[in-house]
Amino acid sequence: MFSVYIVARAELRDEIVSIANNVDGAFMLGNQTNLRQALVDCSADTPGLMILDDEILQENLSLLQQMGQVSYPIILIGRGDNFETARRALAVHARDLVDVDQISKLLRGAMTRHAVRITQEYKTGRLLTVFSSKGGVGKTTLAVNLAIALAQIIRGPVALVDLDLQFGDVTALLGEQSASSIHDLAHVPIIDEVTVDRAMTPLSSSTVRVLAAPDGPQYAEDIQPNVVLNILSILKDNYPFVVVDTAPGFSEVNVAALDLADQVLTVATPEVVTVRSVKQALDLFAGGLNYSREKIRLIMNRAGTQSTLASSDVASVLGVTLYGELPSDWTWAVRAANQGQPLMLFQPAAPLAQGIRTIARQLVEEVEGPRRSAKDKTGVPRRSLLDKIVSRSKGGPPRVAKS
Ligand SMILES: Nc1ncnc2c1ncn2[C@@H]1O[C@H](COP(=O)(O)OP(=O)(O)OP(=O)(O)O)[C@@H](O)[C@H]1O
Ligand SMILES: [Mg+2]
Repeated sequence: MFSVYIVARAELRDEIVSIANNVDGAFMLGNQTNLRQALVDCSADTPGLMILDDEILQENLSLLQQMGQVSYPIILIGRGDNFETARRALAVHARDLVDVDQISKLLRGAMTRHAVRITQEYKTGRLLTVFSSKGGVGKTTLAVNLAIALAQIIRGPVALVDLDLQFGDVTALLGEQSASSIHDLAHVPIIDEVTVDRAMTPLSSSTVRVLAAPDGPQYAEDIQPNVVLNILSILKDNYPFVVVDTAPGFSEVNVAALDLADQVLTVATPEVVTVRSVKQALDLFAGGLNYSREKIRLIMNRAGTQSTLASSDVASVLGVTLYGELPSDWTWAVRAANQGQPLMLFQPAAPLAQGIRTIARQLVEEVEGPRRSAKDKTGVPRRSLLDKIVSRSKGGPPRVAKS
C-alpha cells in the first residue's frame, strides 16, 4: 500500500489518476497544478510517490533545487527524447522519466517499482465491530463517523460494512446511493478480493468504501454467517481498518463479526435499562464467547447530561474501563442526518464529531504509535488536503489496497 501525489496540468491529470487508481495498493493523497502548494502538502504528509508533470516543473525552475531534496521518490512525466527534460529529471533526482506518450504503457510499472510502501504496520487490518445489545444507542452514528475519521487520520482507505442486514441505514446517513450491496455476495460461487471489491461503493467525499446492507429486510436471511466471515476476512487483509456496523443483539451474523473483530466497540448510553442489558452482553463476551478483556472497548454515548448516570459510575458497575465518551449533540447529529451528510464531514468541529475523532486517534495510535495523530492536533481535520484527495469518479475509486 502506498500513497501517491500527482502534480500535473489538468489535461494530463485525469489520465494519470485513472492509471494510478488501477495500480494495486495505490491510494491518492492529492493532486495539484501548483508545485509550491504540492511541496507544502507533501511536507505535511509524505507521499510514497510523487508523479510530476515536466511542464509544471519547467514553469517552476526556482523550485528545482528544493525538489531535488525531497525524501519521497519522483516519477517525471515528460518528453523522453528531450535533453532539457532529462536534465530536469536528474536535477530533481527523479527515479524514472516516463514519456508523456507512453504513460498508459509504462506508468503503472514505474509506480510499482519506485513507490515507497507504507510500513508494515497495517499488514493485516484492524476489524472494529460496533456493537450493542440495545437498539438506538448510536451504533450507526459511531460506525459511520469513525470510519471517516480513521480514513482522515491515516490518509488511506477504510472499509465500512453495514451488517444491519434488515434495516441498515449506513448509506442513508452518508447520503449515498449504492448500486451494489452485501446481497450481491450472497450467492456468488467464490468470494474473493475482486467480487468483494465490486460490491463496495466508494464515497465521493472520503476514502471510505462502503459495503451496503441489502435493499430490503426480505433479503437479510440470504446472507449466511460463513459468507460474512469470508467477506470480513478478505476486507481485513486488504484495508488498514474495517469498521462494521451491526443490528442490536446476538444474531449469528453478529457473532461472526464479533468473533473476527480485533476490537468490539460496545456502545452504551447512561440509562439504567441500557446499562443492565450491556452488562448481560459483557458477561456473555467474557463467559460463553470467551473474549479477552482487551478485545472489548466500552463507549458511552450521550454522556454527561445531568439527568443521566455518570459514565464513571456506569463503567464501575460494568467492571470495565471506559474507552471513550461521546457527548449528547442533538443539534448537529440531527442537522447532519437531515442533510444526508455524515457529521464528521458536515460539522467536524461539533462536540460529537470531536469525541469520535478522539476515539479514532486512540485506535490509530494503538497501531502506529502517536506519530500520525500528533500531526492532527487541532481537533479539526485538515480539510484542505483532504478536499484534494483525488476525485474518485465511479470509474476510478481507490483500489482495495494491499501492502
Ligand atoms: N451523541 C448523540 N447525541 C445526539 N444524538 C445522537 C447521538 N448519538 C446518536 N444520536 C441520534 O440517535 C439516533 C439513533 O442513533 P443511531 O441510528 O446511530 O443508533 P443505532 O444504535 O445505530 O440504532 P439501531 O439499533 O436502530 O441501528 C439517531 O437519530 C442519531 O442521530
Ligand atoms: Mg444502526
